[in-house]
Amino acid sequence: MKPVEIAKGIYDVGVKDWNIRDFHGHSTHMGTSYNSFLIVDSKIALIDAVKKEFSDELIDNISQIVDPKKIDVVISNHTEMDHSGGLPRVMHRVGEDKPLYCSKMGQKNLSLHFPQHFNYHAVENGETLNLGRYTLSFMETRMLHWPDSMFTYLNEEKILFSSDAFGQHYAGYEKFDDCVTEDIMLQAKKYFANILLPYAPLILKLVEQVTAMGLDIRMICPDHGIIWRKDPGKIIDAYVGWSRQNSGKKAVIVYDTMWHSTEKMARAIADGLSEQGVAVRPMHLRRSDRSDIMTEVLDARAVVVGSPTLNNGLFPSLGDFLTYMKGLKPKNKIGAAFGSYGWSGESVKLITQELEAMKFEMIDPGVKVQYVPDEKALAACFDLGRKIGQAM
Ligand code: FEO
Repeated sequence: MKPVEIAKGIYDVGVKDWNIRDFHGHSTHMGTSYNSFLIVDSKIALIDAVKKEFSDELIDNISQIVDPKKIDVVISNHTEMDHSGGLPRVMHRVGEDKPLYCSKMGQKNLSLHFPQHFNYHAVENGETLNLGRYTLSFMETRMLHWPDSMFTYLNEEKILFSSDAFGQHYAGYEKFDDCVTEDIMLQAKKYFANILLPYAPLILKLVEQVTAMGLDIRMICPDHGIIWRKDPGKIIDAYVGWSRQNSGKKAVIVYDTMWHSTEKMARAIADGLSEQGVAVRPMHLRRSDRSDIMTEVLDARAVVVGSPTLNNGLFPSLGDFLTYMKGLKPKNKIGAAFGSYGWSGESVKLITQELEAMKFEMIDPGVKVQYVPDEKALAACFDLGRKIGQAM
């Protein structure tokens, strides 16, 4: 793809990964992009590289604007390999003596990824770099979402290069928020739910700090997906809302099933919730990707989890999902468990223990049914749904 000039002398020279469908375990139905930004001024700076496999494409894109050897400084906002994997190749072309700007933790982490002795320059928080008519400021954003993460801000154009924050896994020729539909917000939400959710308190603190600083942001350039130029406040406000986790009247029923008994229970619970005016999303674990389920969990008040008992334990897909959800640390949730069993019936107890460990407010001991739910059992499930709905 041709580089795009996003502001005077500033180019997106990044690449599209059109066909990636599994990004270290997340489903990426719309592919993704690895954005990289070239600033051509008296000095020339490159912000972030791309995944290793796309290094040559990045270098070709840069070469359409300038000879890579003319780049004076390379900036690494984040060490994760979708942005640093191409660094060795880029530094080789740019010149390994050229300064590589990063945070202090960036220097440590890049050194642990690459054996080359790059000419690191670890920036102080708030340090600036003058390129000529443009000046860059560096802002540490530790644990958003790695210890090395930082933002780079272009003062004169008020552009925030935000690394992973505000990104979306989306590959498209459309470059800006005013060129895409509202669907992009779903991709941004999915990105937040699966990558940034554990750090929600830090995000709220950062937004407070940036507001107190009076930092004017005209454009946000994340490392994935589209650039926010029409309304950067929209994605910032969305991040604040998602970080607060003030959920609406919504429930997700996450379950697996062997012979449809637990599934019948899920449907009866969904009916009870729906009767209470709750928006319900029943999600079968082997039909839905865990990252799509977490996207729904993000703004749900209730998460109701069901599993058959298999060999005295949970169905394996539940182990996967509960481990994943626990790591993402969702807050302000109410929960309940349900499941069918043949002869031992541990699943409800095991789910309850897991949800309690995640600090879910458990509002019912749960419903368990031997073999196949009869009308009475389904009525109990319906009542459980109603009870959860009334607790919202
Ligand atoms: Fe897009 Fe944390 O890497």
